[in-house]
Amino acid sequence: MTVSVDKQLERAAKERPKGEEIRTMFSSIAPRYDLLNRLLSGFLDVRWRKRAVATALQGRSAASVLDVCTGTGDVALQVTKKLSGHGRVVGADFCPEMLKHAGEKVRNGAHKDLSLVVCDAQSLPFPAHSFDAALVAFGIRNVSNVELGIREMTRVVRPGGRVVVLEFSRPRNPLSRFITRCALSFVPLIGRLVSGSSVNAYGYLSSSVASFGARFDLVSIMRKCGLTNVREEPLTLGAVTVFSGEPAFDPEDQSKGSEPRDSRHR
Ligand SMILES: C[S@@+](CC[C@H](N)C(=O)[O-])C[C@H]1O[C@@H](n2cnc3c(N)ncnc32)[C@H](O)[C@@H]1O
Repeated sequence: MTVSVDKQLERAAKERPKGEEIRTMFSSIAPRYDLLNRLLSGFLDVRWRKRAVATALQGRSAASVLDVCTGTGDVALQVTKKLSGHGRVVGADFCPEMLKHAGEKVRNGAHKDLSLVVCDAQSLPFPAHSFDAALVAFGIRNVSNVELGIREMTRVVRPGGRVVVLEFSRPRNPLSRFITRCALSFVPLIGRLVSGSSVNAYGYLSSSVASFGARFDLVSIMRKCGLTNVREEPLTLGAVTVFSGEPAFDPEDQSKGSEPRDSRHR
């Protein structure tokens, strides 16, 4: 049975944990978040993020880039490294504890082109068309209103720029699905042992990974939010996918003779 995008979103809005619960959960695991990512993914997470960054930058060596749900800042730092001083990078997250760890990495690496902002992905404090690209890595499934999150990313990116979502997905191949399910079943136990958190954060994370890919058709949601040329690139047997799209040119803007901009935020 196919469920329409509107129905998926409506049902999810009722069932998904609210922002405050999500923030509390990430606060509790922030100190061990990076270590657990590496352990649980066997270091594949580093490669997945690099792929998403390459998709967002499209070979550019200068750009202004927003990393939504930046957490401990791995994507934002990767972008900063790639641009090596030729651009502007903003990492945004609503959990100050996660950003604190991002801030430590920024200071240690003296990345002066990277700034961190505490804000909600569903209400970004940036003007329309102010970035060349916006990314979200393993964050969108935690945002209470997925559509609003993607709409906001679409709004702040200039027409012809890139919106990229890196997220766990449901492998199409049954064997890959089985392997992923087995791997996920260990996540809550390992997560609790390593993080020492009393909140069952990794129980939530493992169940949200399992359910998100099966329930949300991100390609349709991205199109609904006004993105064109929406593409998906499955990685690691389809356990993770890089979704990308481009905000459409506004026909009114074009009739006024405005050219596609290259980088407003420099
Ligand atoms: C699984 S972590 C991903 C962090 C990072 N992007 C990465 O690749 O590791 C999800 C992050 O999303 C943030 N988050 C969840 N909902 C959010 C929202 N509505 N607005 C801003 N940040 C949010 C959490 O605080 C957390 O830091």
